[in-house]
Amino acid sequence: MIIGVPKEIKNNENRVGVTPAGVMELVRHGHTVFVQQSAGLQSGFEDDEYIGAGAKILPTIEEVYQTAEMIIKVKEPIAPEYSLIKKDQLLFTYFHFASSEVLTRAMIDSGSVCVSYETVEDPDRSLPLLTPMSEVAGRMSIQQGAKYLEKPLKGRGILLGGVPGVAPAKVLVLGGGVVGTQAAKMAAGMGADVTILDISPKRLKYLDDVMPANVNTEYSNEYTIRKHIKTSDLIVGGVLIPGAKAPKLITRDMLKEMRPGTVLVDVAVDQGGCFETTKPTTHQDPVYIIDDVVHYSVANMPGAVPYTSTMALTNVTLPYAIQLANKGWKKACAENEPLKKGLNVINGDVVYPAISEAFDLPLKDVNAYTSKLD
Ligand SMILES: NC(=O)c1ccc[n+]([C@@H]2O[C@H](COP(=O)([O-])OP(=O)(O)OC[C@H]3O[C@@H](n4cnc5c(N)ncnc54)[C@H](O)[C@@H]3O)[C@@H](O)[C@H]2O)c1
Repeated sequence: MIIGVPKEIKNNENRVGVTPAGVMELVRHGHTVFVQQSAGLQSGFEDDEYIGAGAKILPTIEEVYQTAEMIIKVKEPIAPEYSLIKKDQLLFTYFHFASSEVLTRAMIDSGSVCVSYETVEDPDRSLPLLTPMSEVAGRMSIQQGAKYLEKPLKGRGILLGGVPGVAPAKVLVLGGGVVGTQAAKMAAGMGADVTILDISPKRLKYLDDVMPANVNTEYSNEYTIRKHIKTSDLIVGGVLIPGAKAPKLITRDMLKEMRPGTVLVDVAVDQGGCFETTKPTTHQDPVYIIDDVVHYSVANMPGAVPYTSTMALTNVTLPYAIQLANKGWKKACAENEPLKKGLNVINGDVVYPAISEAFDLPLKDVNAYTSKLD
């Protein structure tokens, strides 16, 4: 198959859809890979590395879309890309269709086949192509939190791990899922005194088994949250109720009970945030202060570490990309149920229920396409 890797053009998106290692794998499977000039530069990959791995470099995004049967990228196409997409072209990327009717209609009109990273779903309902970004954000929340606890950045002026003879900082993690687990692990590794709150007894039991001695677990409710916020230095929000807005676990009035310079990192900002005072921020201007409490709520945290994020993303997308390229999307999806869940729009038809519901569009049965093998 002829595969194209365009340079991302969305503002501040520094990742790239395929690494040189990924190119080598695809070429080894007999595919031809065209990478747009400087597509990997912001993630630390020079064109020469791609050439060494077997890719051909094309100078413009137009040529990449024109040449490729399958496009592998990171973010959803944005307006300047819509007219470049060809009928029957296979697009493998994040789409988040339910949040944009304009994008949905543009992809319907294009006649392309859209496989969304974020809806590829394992039998246990986990989302394998979303997990690595939560891992990055969870780990990064502690790195950012530790930084903003420094006095010149308006924090309490406390070192996360303390020093011999001085107690470490207290870190409260709301939600013990992927984000919360990685955050707790990092904070514990730096020597902080960590508490994770969750509402899933099963998850609390698991965390209690695997976490080091400086991590405690407690059941999450308002009473426990009010108790902990009075003495916490850094609070990380990582709760998720699938398909719903995040619950507001820390309300505006609670800020008064915190010590000045406490840092709040709301990783759940992309689902509305789990602190009432959360508003989305950017890497250019990541924090703001309310009632002497520092708020960090960058909506695309992994964007600041594109090298790590690109590697983490492509590690998980590549096996699916290889299946799509080797077998074609119909056979690959027919034989792989998690990948079939990634099919969102096929040649003008919506085949994913949540998108049809979001915009009141007719829903076609995905099996009608995957069972008809050419
Ligand atoms: N800002 C970013 O850049 C960024 C990056 C990646 C992920 N995220 C977001 O981070 C959030 C967490 O993602 P995840 O992958 O860890 O989700 P997850 O499903 O793995 O974990 C969520 C956890 O929250 C727990 N929970 C639900 N309600 C709770 C409550 N009231 N109190 C305490 N815990 C509760 C659940 O039991 C679960 O264990 C999501 O909103 C995700 O979109 C943001």
